[in-house]
Amino acid sequence: MIIAVDGPAGSGKSTISKLLAKELGLVYLDTGAMYRLFTLKMLKENVSFSDNDKINELLEKLNINIENDKFYLDDEDVSKEIRKTDVAENVSKTAAIDEVREKMVSLQREFSKSKNVILDGRDIGTVVFPEADIKIFLVADPRERAERRFKELKAKGENISLDSIYENILKRDKLDSTRENSPLKKANDAIEVDTTGKNIEEVKNIILNLYNNKG
Ligand code: CDP
Repeated sequence: MIIAVDGPAGSGKSTISKLLAKELGLVYLDTGAMYRLFTLKMLKENVSFSDNDKINELLEKLNINIENDKFYLDDEDVSKEIRKTDVAENVSKTAAIDEVREKMVSLQREFSKSKNVILDGRDIGTVVFPEADIKIFLVADPRERAERRFKELKAKGENISLDSIYENILKRDKLDSTRENSPLKKANDAIEVDTTGKNIEEVKNIILNLYNNKG
């Protein structure tokens, strides 16, 4: 069983995917976190986005691990760091690099082998698993998405303005949906769910209904 959840930043993908994973006994993979981990590595190593040789070298030696809610880079828990502004500001540039996508997609397929999984990202239903059993495309009004992210980061003690989050979300939406390699877009057979004004419970129930009707 493979459930693909795609959609723009802050549309509620990870919240819903975690809940569904619990409810349906699936393993959850946050693919965005993988791009964030690699972005953090590039920032730590001061690598330029045009330095292909160095990028390939980092990809070859990449040491990332995901255990439930914890994300490790070179055996260090960087779960908090990958959500910070400098990573958010650069992740869409990293995610547009062909070699980076190739590596991440291959790790995602490997991870999902012989498991029942729910993955969230931008290209899960279109590229990573075009044969997924269920494909959901979550959307929501950008203002509401920014407000959700603002609350999330505030609760974690990040000091960042709502306006800058809104700008970052719009910028990432644009970069993610206009890039050449695996752009963010709804797969033809994905079901679009607009989460604007809906609470988590409502969205979860919509998706559970789809799941139950699939048999
Ligand atoms: O949680 P949020 O919606 O802010 O983003 P994320 O899922 O953590 O993804 C961060 C970034 O990684 C996105 O803006 C994309 O640039 C990239 N990404 C991607 O290209 N493909 C994926 N399957 C997942 C994320």
